[in-house]
Amino acid sequence: MPSKAIIEKLKKIQTPFYFYDIELLKKTAQTAINEAEKFGYTIHYALKANSNHKILKILSAAGFGADCVSANEIVRATECGFNPKHIAYAGVGKTDKEINTALDSGIFTFNCESLPEIENINSIAAKKSKIADIAIRINPNVDAHTHEYVTTGLEENKFGISEWQFNEVVEKIKSLDSVKLISLHFHIGSQITDMKVFETLCARVNEIQKIFETLGIKLPHLNVGGGLGIDYKNPDANSIIDFKSYFEIFNKNLNLYDGQKLHFELGRSIVAQCGSLITQVTYVKNGRQKNFVITDGGMNDLIRPALYRAYHKIKNLTSSKPEKIYDIVGPICESSDCFAKNEMINETQRGDILAICSAGAYGEVMASQYNLRELPKAYYSDEI
Ligand code: LLP
Repeated sequence: MPSKAIIEKLKKIQTPFYFYDIELLKKTAQTAINEAEKFGYTIHYALKANSNHKILKILSAAGFGADCVSANEIVRATECGFNPKHIAYAGVGKTDKEINTALDSGIFTFNCESLPEIENINSIAAKKSKIADIAIRINPNVDAHTHEYVTTGLEENKFGISEWQFNEVVEKIKSLDSVKLISLHFHIGSQITDMKVFETLCARVNEIQKIFETLGIKLPHLNVGGGLGIDYKNPDANSIIDFKSYFEIFNKNLNLYDGQKLHFELGRSIVAQCGSLITQVTYVKNGRQKNFVITDGGMNDLIRPALYRAYHKIKNLTSSKPEKIYDIVGPICESSDCFAKNEMINETQRGDILAICSAGAYGEVMASQYNLRELPKAYYSDEI
């Protein structure tokens, strides 16, 4: 819960808007970096979770590399202080224009998702007389036990190269002069809270490294992606996730070669808890079966509940009355514009200010202007 002084300041700002707790962001970033450094691991922060300039500058200063999925993200990362040599670039559909930008920026790796993509990167790099360092994104066929929309490591998903293709891909890469294979890349999904999934991933990575050895390939880097989930139910009690245990799983279960560098691509676990969507209550509508709290923020500002039925804890920052049960909904003309069903919050009246918690990841970045609404602005705890 923000302090009384902060709440007084928030009340004066035009809602809806994103509010970032910068102290928490810095603490989270430092914890993640420290825990990774104990094992010599590198974290590439996944910009797709939040590409706000101020947040990126804090994360680049904290020592993260970057994980980008578009040329615009590469440009943004570089503008915000990330060293291009620490940028991994992923995505199933990199266009020629984007590949050109990435090559000109001098990034760390292209995480490649298909043979046609590798051939295309090779021909664009050849024209520039450059050699592109690449990773093969492997589809390890590991179930992340998470929402189907954020599961990526199953053979039925569009991502990566499957085991039956390894031989062909390796032979092809050997025949190409302008790409150099330096890493394998894995990412099996997002908001993974069952830590056993990462143990399973480690076991699969070990198997797959062995297969590559039989093909004569031993690589200097390994990238196991991101996906570490956060506690949406108890954001205050678990504001910083247990990075220590997470990295220990990899240290214990993964067989790295001597000198092989391990890379991660964490997004949500770094930025989710520091951000909230702050919204004002426009009306309270009491029905026979339900009481509705109607907010001025909508699914265009934060789409996760509508798109994934994701749970975000909601707090009434301006009421200390006993709790009541409400459906908390936005103003947009769609039934899916609902932030929470049957949520217990302090009794609410028109004009109250609500915080929709844990919205720092996949919140502001996924906002749209649907219904010709304005994009939400961002404010920061150290600036208001
Ligand atoms: N690396 C790759 C290749 C990815 O596709 C992703 C996320 C990440 C890293 C970062 O994953 P994280 O550590 O943040 O879980 N919009 C959805 C999440 C989509 C995640 C897409 N890929 C949501 O709001 O839950």
